[in-house]
Amino acid sequence: TRPLPPLWSLMLFALLISAWVSEKGQERVYRGSGDDPPRSKVTWLGTPIGELKRTPDCGPVLSPLSSSDSHTVMIRTDLLRAGRAQVPYPGNPRDAWDDAHVKMPCSVKNLFPGSTEDGNLEPDEARHLLGTLLPDMAQLALRAPELLAQPIPLLKADRNHSVTFSQEQIACLLANAFFCTFPRRNSRKSEYSNYPDINFCRLFEGSSPRKVEKLKTLLWYFRKVTEKRPTGLVTFTRQSLSTVPSWSRSTAKLTNLHITCEGTIEDQGYGMLQVDFANRFVGGGVTDCGLVQEEIRFLINPELIVSRLFTEALEPDECLIITGTEQYSKYTGYAETYKWGGDHDDKTPSDQWQRRCTEIVAIDALRFRSFLEQFRPERMTRELNKAFCGFVRPGVPRDQLTAVATGNWGCGVFGGDARLKAVLQMLAAAEAGRDIAYFTFGDGSLMRDVHNIHTLLTNSDMTVGAVYSLLEEYYFSECRPCTSRRPEISLYHFLSERILGDSSSP
Ligand SMILES: *[C@@H]1O[C@H](CO)[C@@H](O)[C@H](O)[C@H]1NC(C)=O
Repeated sequence: TRPLPPLWSLMLFALLISAWVSEKGQERVYRGSGDDPPRSKVTWLGTPIGELKRTPDCGPVLSPLSSSDSHTVMIRTDLLRAGRAQVPYPGNPRDAWDDAHVKMPCSVKNLFPGSTEDGNLEPDEARHLLGTLLPDMAQLALRAPELLAQPIPLLKADRNHSVTFSQEQIACLLANAFFCTFPRRNSRKSEYSNYPDINFCRLFEGSSPRKVEKLKTLLWYFRKVTEKRPTGLVTFTRQSLSTVPSWSRSTAKLTNLHITCEGTIEDQGYGMLQVDFANRFVGGGVTDCGLVQEEIRFLINPELIVSRLFTEALEPDECLIITGTEQYSKYTGYAETYKWGGDHDDKTPSDQWQRRCTEIVAIDALRFRSFLEQFRPERMTRELNKAFCGFVRPGVPRDQLTAVATGNWGCGVFGGDARLKAVLQMLAAAEAGRDIAYFTFGDGSLMRDVHNIHTLLTNSDMTVGAVYSLLEEYYFSECRPCTSRRPEISLYHFLSERILGDSSSP
């Protein structure tokens, strides 16, 4: 679906059409009559206008107004008086949801947002949604002038900047996003074309069961924040590095790695720096159809979504750090099988700024079209810089840096190789001085492989620079000459051979 053209262009179009139509009309009159055009002093011809009949002097005699089979009157006719507000009829409102009547937004049958079978709300839920939740959300949205007392800065590219909101302010902004009220944000050609979508309009399109589950998750958030005002704060920080490490010369040593095929970044990685496998437009497809790692995190911690209002697309050496969001919902599944899983009572303690101790970093991986492409040194460097930007905290002593909770970053649809990405993240974390907790999401062989390679690299006391040089070597000797889709020798096999071969030779 395309965005509507701006109103002024519709008006201009209407003016042009009407000018064209009236010109055509004149043309027809003159040609048809065969006469010369009337002289300019003649201003009317034919029957004098005063002889033509008009109401109220002329017209049918009206019988008293009343409803009939052929006439629906929407007001109390017995109370009809000139100059008075009219009274709706009947006094007990009725509803119909059929092919003979307008389907109304306030109908209890209006099963927001669609008509798929498992998306249907129970009558009680619908009553609550329409009678309580939506009106409360509208009230919340309308509090924007009072709650947001100063302009919100845009977090633009190539700049460091932070902005801290109360959770209540975020709830107000998200209620506005739900009702699609942010101006200039519905057309892709607007001044905000380098920003993610914020208005939720695309979430209401179509009848995809995914969107129903997404809306359930978001409505649960709105229910919680309208029933009980949240009191914490959330900080959004854009971090833009102007200098990046020289990877081949780094003397940093690898840090500790915990790797597991069970658990999740958000549950078992609590209190750590949690990686959001982001899109460069943060939140990816959360307000549309997307439903993978990043979108799920944005749904269960919906305060993340407000970052889309002000975060310009991330550049290569940039990340967005979000501290203090609350998890409101549980979930099950992933992508097609995603389901809202009910309430989550977030017990995470808060810091002195009243922010929940949940730090999330959005880093966007490259999207690869071919497997071999990602081993090109400039691609590996780009991913190292991106991860490093996400992990480094300039000025913070090493003993105050939490571990990084991460996993298969930029794999899946982005086409990254989990084994390469794991090594790159190890190097970036080492350079930034942080340990890693790695979640493989059920992949046992990946868990063993990554653990083995990490053990090998640390036992042989390799520096980040030495590992990086081996990665480059792998590219030049195995990937660049390769004519098939994948190199014959795997990366980990190559690393093991080179490291064990080197140490066993004198
Ligand atoms: C952002 O802050 C970091 C760390 O303080 C600094 O190294 C970098 O130069 C800053 N970036 C910009 C674009 O000013």
